[in-house]
Amino acid sequence: MWRLSVSIFFFSCLAVSSSSYGDSEATCSGIVPLRYRYDKISITDYGGVGDGRTVNTKAFRAAIYRIQHLKRRGGTLLYIPPGVYLTESFNLTSHMTLYLAKGAVIRAVQDTWNWPLIDPLPSYGRGRELPGGRYMSFIHGDGLRDVVITGQNGTIDGQGEVWWNMWRSRTLKYTRPNLIEFKDSKEIIISNVIFQNSPFWNIHPVYCSNVVIHHVTILAPQDSPNTDGIDPDSSYNVCIEDSYISTGDDLVAIKSGWDEYGIAYGRPSSNITIRRITGSSPFAGIAIGSETSGGIKNIVAEHITLSNMGVGVNIKTNIGRGGYIKNIKISDVYIDTAKYGIKIAGDTGDHPDENYNPNALPIVKGIHIKNVWGVNVRNAGSIQGLKGSPFTGICLSEINLHGSLNSYKTWKCSDVIGTSLKVSPWPCSELRTTGGYNLCSSTF
Ligand SMILES: *[C@@H]1O[C@H](CO)[C@@H](O)[C@H](O)[C@H]1NC(C)=O
Ligand SMILES: *[C@@H]1O[C@H](CO)[C@@H](O)[C@H](O)[C@H]1NC(C)=O
Ligand SMILES: *[C@@H]1O[C@H](CO)[C@@H](O)[C@H](O)[C@H]1NC(C)=O
Repeated sequence: MWRLSVSIFFFSCLAVSSSSYGDSEATCSGIVPLRYRYDKISITDYGGVGDGRTVNTKAFRAAIYRIQHLKRRGGTLLYIPPGVYLTESFNLTSHMTLYLAKGAVIRAVQDTWNWPLIDPLPSYGRGRELPGGRYMSFIHGDGLRDVVITGQNGTIDGQGEVWWNMWRSRTLKYTRPNLIEFKDSKEIIISNVIFQNSPFWNIHPVYCSNVVIHHVTILAPQDSPNTDGIDPDSSYNVCIEDSYISTGDDLVAIKSGWDEYGIAYGRPSSNITIRRITGSSPFAGIAIGSETSGGIKNIVAEHITLSNMGVGVNIKTNIGRGGYIKNIKISDVYIDTAKYGIKIAGDTGDHPDENYNPNALPIVKGIHIKNVWGVNVRNAGSIQGLKGSPFTGICLSEINLHGSLNSYKTWKCSDVIGTSLKVSPWPCSELRTTGGYNLCSSTF
């Protein structure tokens, strides 16, 4: 018996050290096969003019209509040559590649009054910002499979400023458009593209599976409201790697619906890997929530390099959310300058309406955070669970969060049960359960 357990322990150590942890070459980008498209068309064949002034909506719609209806074997590549292609929002179709050449820019028009409206997501019950419908995303995909957006680092530009100003002056009628949304879609690849100045969230896969996003650059000013980088929402098998994100809100935020609507829709986010992300934001680097009502599980984030952050790692939910956040593994995070290193909170975010159930408490359990190194971090961490639903299995190991000389503060905890190993500054007593050493070392 003794021998068996020793060998199992030894084996699991080996397995861990030879698999993803610490391996900077690991990749999940192979989950969606890259298909070669023999059929190629150019936006200029459909009347596209890249002069920065001509509105190219008809060209995009005609080219994509052609792809959708001719259904060429192996799909079709739509080539965007260098130039600035102004357009209204448009829908993609299945089996297509949108290929942006070096120097190609697809730029959104700024006619907010004319922007198409679509239904709210069932898991949100209303627009995220305002009741009712929501503006369609600039580039939209609904019910698609096998779609690639790639090229030689061309740019998709949302010209979000007018939308941010409407938010600032409270003149928005509906929820702002995302830059790109895929809904109910699968086999999606987004790579080697620059996204800039999204009106709202940048890349929003919702009710999707098998989504790969890698080598993207996402840029928006630090003061632009709600310009989240990538928000996988009620989606599974998502791989996000090798990207630079600097925006005005969370860099990557995993979500799964909002209060009673998200609970009723019941669609979790699971099996999501986030790896080798670099960036900066006044909000969070790696975020989970705060919309977590469909449940969020089996998430790995590793090799994350952050500078000038609000919060390094932020897990956030609220009463009324229901659902769960479980089996989350975050490791190898480097933070240079942040207000908070790690924050796990049960009191974040607003409610869609007054009909949320205050007894629907989220379950937060099994959060493992390992190898975090921070310099100039003002507050090491705060872990505040819910009275009626304490956060359990919170395991912190090998964490060093150094404050600047005058602002050094330690951990704040409440309603949390967990363990810690080699954490500096010394963690709160709630994270010093006896036997914690073994629990931490055997689960990582
Ligand atoms: C989870 O995602 C990984 C890639 O990140 C994939 O290889 C694996 O098959 C997925 N697991 C399941 C159960 O689908
Ligand atoms: C684009 O897709 C949306 C959502 O599926 C739909 O409501 C809209 O009519 C489509 N627009 C066009 C121009 O096809
Ligand atoms: C595009 O940008 C990414 C990220 O900066 C970079 O890794 C990649 O080499 C670039 N690709 C091309 C084709 O220039």
